[in-house]
Amino acid sequence: MAPVRVAALNDIPPGAMLAVTVGETPIVLFNLDGEFFALYNECSHAEAALSDGEFDPDEECVECPLHGSLFDIRSGRPRTLPAFQPVATYRAYAEDDSVFVEYST
Ligand code: FES
Repeated sequence: MAPVRVAALNDIPPGAMLAVTVGETPIVLFNLDGEFFALYNECSHAEAALSDGEFDPDEECVECPLHGSLFDIRSGRPRTLPAFQPVATYRAYAEDDSVFVEYST
C-alpha cells in the first residue's frame, strides 16, 4: 500500500466529501471533523457515484443518489437496501497540507 496524495487539505473542509481518481479508481473522500475516510466511489447496487449523493456527518454515512441506500463511511457497508454488498474502503489521512489515500493496484 503506497500513500498517494489525492487532495489539498483546503479542498475538503470538515463535513465535506470530495471525488478523486487514483490511477483509474474512483474514490470518494470524507472529512469527519478532521478524520478522513475513503470509499470506492460507485454504489455496489448499480452505476451511481456515491459522491453525487448526500453525506451526513452526524450519521457517518452517505446516501446513494440513485435508490437511496445508506453506506457507512467507516466500513463501506450498506445500512439500508436495496444495496446489500459493501463498497471497498481505503485508509485516508491528512498530513501537513495534504490528504493521502493508501492505495495499491
Ligand atoms: Fe445505489 Fe441503487 S444504485 S442504491
